[in-house]
Amino acid sequence: MAAKIVTATIRTTLGPLGMDKMLVSGMGDAVITSDGATIMKEFDIQHPAAKMLVEVAKSQDNEVGDGTTTAVVLAGELLSKAQELIDQDVHPTVIIDGYKKASAEALQILDSLAITVDPTDTKTLRQIASTSMGTKAVATSKDYLATLATSAVTQVVDNSSGKTKADIERIKVLKKHGEGIEQTELVKGIVLDKEIAHSDMPKRVEKARIALLNTKLEIEKTEFDAKITIESPDQMKMFLGEEETMMRKMVEKIAESKANVVLSEKGIDDVVLHFLAKRGILAVKNLSSGDMEKLGRATGGKVVASLKDLSAESLGEAKLVEEVKIGDDKLLYIRECKDPKAVTIVIRGGSEHVIEEAERSLHDGLCVVRNVVEDGKIVAGGGSVEAELAKQLRDFAVKVGGREQLAVQCFAEAVESIPVTLAQNAGLDPIDVMVELRMKHQESANKWFGVSVHDGRVADMFNERVVEPLRVKQQAIKSSTEVACMILRIDDVVSSKGTKGPAGPPPPGGMPPGMGMM
Ligand SMILES: Nc1ncnc2c1ncn2[C@@H]1O[C@H](COP(=O)(O)OP(=O)(O)O)[C@@H](O)[C@H]1O
Ligand SMILES: [Mg+2]
Repeated sequence: MAAKIVTATIRTTLGPLGMDKMLVSGMGDAVITSDGATIMKEFDIQHPAAKMLVEVAKSQDNEVGDGTTTAVVLAGELLSKAQELIDQDVHPTVIIDGYKKASAEALQILDSLAITVDPTDTKTLRQIASTSMGTKAVATSKDYLATLATSAVTQVVDNSSGKTKADIERIKVLKKHGEGIEQTELVKGIVLDKEIAHSDMPKRVEKARIALLNTKLEIEKTEFDAKITIESPDQMKMFLGEEETMMRKMVEKIAESKANVVLSEKGIDDVVLHFLAKRGILAVKNLSSGDMEKLGRATGGKVVASLKDLSAESLGEAKLVEEVKIGDDKLLYIRECKDPKAVTIVIRGGSEHVIEEAERSLHDGLCVVRNVVEDGKIVAGGGSVEAELAKQLRDFAVKVGGREQLAVQCFAEAVESIPVTLAQNAGLDPIDVMVELRMKHQESANKWFGVSVHDGRVADMFNERVVEPLRVKQQAIKSSTEVACMILRIDDVVSSKGTKGPAGPPPPGGMPPGMGMM
């Protein structure tokens, strides 16, 4: 029951005409999104069974990055169909066996339906990204963002291990408030949300030799209290002079290495900054360790933890380092690094909500392109592949026979809930649509017919350019079946002593925590 309610809430967001959810926290902060993974993550869910659906969304998001709503809707449908069978006295074990058989068969059917594409075919990759991002609030800019996502992923493709891999972790995504989505840009190199640390430093350094430091360029305070009694102005001068000499030496050491840019994870003393500026060295301080790691990889430099280790060999390289003014803010661009795989996407947008949603959509877009680059297999979306899957599963059910056959049929119906939901969300009559879809799918030539939501009719989804990675569809089947079977296996919910977490106030009516909600 709890799982069904969660599903009912999330299913209205499916597809390009799905609605958004406004998630409001206790503090009054709002998140507006139609991204299944985000909704499930932000949901304040207490019921343990419903929480398992959050796991479905999470695993779907981690594994393939898209299809989270699909997976949750599927899981919910599998459960509600199971309920019908249980009411007819079919034992849960039989249902579980039937579901498992159906799931294995579904994965094979999907594989046989999938179409192989060339991973370098950027036109298809753009369509994949565009389908995924077209279901989000940024849909009006989907083609622009799709092109961006495709170029970004193709930049980081790595064929060295014999297998095509695209590590999208390498793509740095930076958000900067201002202008609009269409000003979002893809930069070859790394962009840092930092300013140059001293106003006298150059704003632009060509042929940059970059020192990456993880050490303070300051005079360390001693750990124990020491008292120095200064009795004359001369002594004072000497004391300060000594400090200055130490800092001068630091700068000399950096200059010796021939570095002309210093990027540091730690702080830099104002005096050091002054000397660096005098030597025409550009410096930026207090970078995050994540950025330092990316910079190391991108520029081919080594992050050194002590100035002693700094040498010409440890420096990174980039064609140009420059500070760019964007609105009132400044960003540091490290362009054309030694490693051409280093890319950054700078997301722009008029409001916080737009930028956040653009980031989430872009994440989906990058993931789906990666999936296709790595697997080279796609299917058509818009519920077409699900409609075909349902048809073939019904044929399979007859072969299974026995009571399990009923479970396989239910599985087929659950899969059909995707085109049904797409139709509902598009304001179409789901029964009319399903009748037409089933009729079309009688002929194998029509196997890619699905719900063309914008035109309100059924159509060949390949012609409509609505395409999705095979991996997303397979993972949705896998994760939803897994969790549905897991929930079906539970016959009792018993409150346990529990050792983790703070004890909340006793729930009203003596119910175990969370049982009252939903
Ligand atoms: N233009 C379109 N016409 C019909 N269906 C579409 C279109 N674009 C995307 N879809 C479908 O929308 C579904 C994905 O919706 P989405 O809200 O992104 O959910 P998910 O979190 O499951 O990815 C897929 O089944 C996809 O095929
Ligand atoms: Mg999606």
